[in-house]
Amino acid sequence: MTDSKAFRRSLGKFATGVTVVTCTDQDGHPCGITANSFSSVSLDPPLILWNIAKVSNSLRAYLDAGHFAINVLSADQREVSTHFARTDHTLFDSIKFTLSPDGVPLLPGTIATFECRTHTIHDCGDHYIIIGEVHGFHVEDGDPLLFYSGGYRNIGD
Ligand SMILES: Cc1cc2nc3c(=O)[nH]c(=O)nc-3n(C[C@H](O)[C@H](O)[C@H](O)COP(=O)(O)O)c2cc1C
Repeated sequence: MTDSKAFRRSLGKFATGVTVVTCTDQDGHPCGITANSFSSVSLDPPLILWNIAKVSNSLRAYLDAGHFAINVLSADQREVSTHFARTDHTLFDSIKFTLSPDGVPLLPGTIATFECRTHTIHDCGDHYIIIGEVHGFHVEDGDPLLFYSGGYRNIGD
């Protein structure tokens, strides 16, 4: 494998939704990172996964977190996605959120939320695969935000 640009372009042909994965770090600060690597894994037990880059500034927080949440963004939340794709330690200063009973930030206006307990973490290349066991979820009507070929889309675009 030599042509990493072509590889990335090929991977981008797989359309996904967009999530913000949230947790609280060891110092009690809320963390959020935009991620489209979310996937379902198992129905029984209910397991999901997402991948975090080893270069992420928030890596330690997610590896140590006993709980995290997957916030599935709606079609009108492009700005929320852009916001949480930035490297910034004051990301939550301008964002409304509530805390789950486990102390995990939950974003309003999403179309689904999955509250998870960290199940297993796999060291995999330049990412870690984080698997969560879902112990709570919430779903709303509405269209999803989509990500395809390096850009945001809405259903029907
Ligand atoms: C649509 C989209 C999807 C992304 N998916 C992931 C992902 O699955 N895993 C990941 O580690 N970073 C992903 N990123 C990049 C992170 O959001 C970004 O690098 C991170 O928020 C930067 O901050 P940090 O280094 O402080 O974590 C994605 C970015 C965008 C815009």
